[in-house]
Amino acid sequence: MVVGDVDAVLAVQRAAFSIEAQLYDDPSLPPLRESREQLVNELDSSLGLVALDGVRVVGSVRVRVEGRSLHIARLSVAPDQQGRGLGALLLSRAESVAEAEEALLFTGHLSASNLRLYARAGYVEQRRVRVDERVTLVYLRKQLA
Ligand SMILES: CC(C)(COP(=O)(O)OP(=O)(O)OC[C@H]1O[C@@H](n2cnc3c(N)ncnc32)[C@H](O)[C@@H]1OP(=O)(O)O)[C@@H](O)C(=O)NCCC(=O)NCCS
Repeated sequence: MVVGDVDAVLAVQRAAFSIEAQLYDDPSLPPLRESREQLVNELDSSLGLVALDGVRVVGSVRVRVEGRSLHIARLSVAPDQQGRGLGALLLSRAESVAEAEEALLFTGHLSASNLRLYARAGYVEQRRVRVDERVTLVYLRKQLA
């Protein structure tokens, strides 16, 4: 991801997470509130990957390397492109951006298809943290080779 991708990435992220927001009845999920400036700043410390269909950005994910851990976040695929394996592909690319012992990520407790995707990819639940009456975050870990 380069700064020139930021607007398109945020558009895909907002479209993707709007569906999650409906699930949690919460229109203020952090991925929906992220500004252009915040994302540009985050690219100083995180690597962003994009999935392209020609010149169109159809998906993205962020990875922050911290010691031997990869923190994976904001996995998003454009709603009209979901269910074709792009999410799994982006996740697998995110896991290989650097040599690491583990990949860490989280999702919401109601996000059954996300939990299935992560379980298929080898992630194991570590803990649950209740954020408020609507959202509990499920923290997952994958041991890397
Ligand atoms: C989570 C997300 C990134 C997954 O992206 P995706 O591209 O749809 O993911 P995949 O295509 O790899 O897998 C999704 C489903 O399609 C199925 N699938 C994958 N390739 C397929 C194919 N070729 N044919 C039919 N089905 C397929 C998968 O088995 C999976 O099915 P399931 O939900 O019943 O388990 C996407 O749904 C999204 O952007 N969600 C909103 C944001 C979000 O919640 N992000 C995660 C934050 S933690």
